[in-house]
Amino acid sequence: MQAVCYDSYGGGSASLKVIQSNLTSNFALMFRFQGIFVFTLQFDEDQTICLRVDRVDSPLPGGELSTSIAGSTPRFEDIFVKNGKITGEELRDEDHVEILVPAPGNGEMLIKMEAASLNPLDWKVQKGIARPVLPRKFPYVPVTDTAGEVVEVGPRVEKFKVGDKVITFLGGAGGGLAEYVVAKESAMAPRPPEVSAADGSCLVFAGCTALRALTVTGGLKLDKTEPLTNVLVTAGSGGVGHYAVQLAKLGNTHITATCGARNIEFVKSLGADEVLDYKTPEGAALKSPSGQKYDLVIHCATGIPWSTFKANLNTNGKVIDLTPNGGTFWNCVVNKLKFSKKQLLPLIMVPKAEEIECLVSLVKEGKLKTVIDSRYPLSRAEEGWAKIMEGHATGKVVVECLT
Ligand SMILES: NC(=O)c1ccc[n+]([C@@H]2O[C@H](COP(=O)([O-])OP(=O)(O)OC[C@H]3O[C@@H](n4cnc5c(N)ncnc54)[C@H](OP(=O)(O)O)[C@@H]3O)[C@@H](O)[C@H]2O)c1
Repeated sequence: MQAVCYDSYGGGSASLKVIQSNLTSNFALMFRFQGIFVFTLQFDEDQTICLRVDRVDSPLPGGELSTSIAGSTPRFEDIFVKNGKITGEELRDEDHVEILVPAPGNGEMLIKMEAASLNPLDWKVQKGIARPVLPRKFPYVPVTDTAGEVVEVGPRVEKFKVGDKVITFLGGAGGGLAEYVVAKESAMAPRPPEVSAADGSCLVFAGCTALRALTVTGGLKLDKTEPLTNVLVTAGSGGVGHYAVQLAKLGNTHITATCGARNIEFVKSLGADEVLDYKTPEGAALKSPSGQKYDLVIHCATGIPWSTFKANLNTNGKVIDLTPNGGTFWNCVVNKLKFSKKQLLPLIMVPKAEEIECLVSLVKEGKLKTVIDSRYPLSRAEEGWAKIMEGHATGKVVVECLT
């Protein structure tokens, strides 16, 4: 069967895309560890200390230690972009290979893939964010979120049979960018005809993250029975954000969202009451036009310091950080030590079958929709990969197996 795989960690210029440019503190200390990790200690005006850990594959200019004082803090992008080309590889068309169709084991099924959706985590794993744990071995067929048809059932499968249409999370084993995938029953939900394969595949990581962040971590009820909650969704136009805005709207909420100027009307159409362009000063400061303070923030963007959130939170406000780094954990601990009622909570997601089922029901009821930025056939999966790496998708990026 046809599959797309990679056989080493890649550094890649895309490392630059995750490194945000809005470090504008008074003082920052940066140092490099083993040439891979860059630690930055940033001291803000309000005494907030932010520790960031980023992974790069290029040498830092000026030796192992760089410091900068009083308003002249170099931006991460300046440092790494100016430093020239960074080595590494992205997914390429040569990565298309013929491999054997895998066999399902206990509690597993063989699925003929119809659609797979891409997430930023897919390329971050390729870049080595989870090394040496993931990928467990090379060559590795990436992508975790798929929808397809059951063509073979392994021993001890109880709920599904050959011919069933399903949506499934493949976890660390990956395998989604291939004609056939082996999936576990425990992370699988039936796909009704009202939900297309492409839409279904998008619900898995992005949809479940939005759902869990809002309800389990954030404590929001998706009905109108509670007092008004002021919600902020950063990057409301992205894969997770566009679900978060729609799901939050099911509760008794006032929603502010951030996105780029081109997506303001789109994000309003999803249900946001107020939308901020993140490239304006008000957007960067997260200042709601009507002066709202937030009870709950679903932080789908990156690079916004805790001090900016803190200034905009209500007394018991919570920020759920979907891309936690060293600074998130540090501020989390500091808040606890200070008995602060304002909380910063990291979320690391492993979708469950019942969460996929819940989202499928909402789609069937017409309460949730998936917006697809772009679709690519499996034969051009690398173009979808490049698209998700750019970080500018409106909604989700999907790879389809059309044969
Ligand atoms: N913790 C977990 O388990 C978990 C689960 C899922 C996702 N995540 C993480 O959550 C983040 C979001 O994922 P995603 O799938 O939604 O990403 P995505 O679809 O790639 O996000 C792209 C969108 O974000 C917008 N955007 C980029 N920077 C922004 C900023 N500073 N402010 C406002 N909007 C901005 C872009 O708008 P423009 O094109 O206008 O720039 C684009 O529409 C990623 O870092 C991902 O790794 C974590």
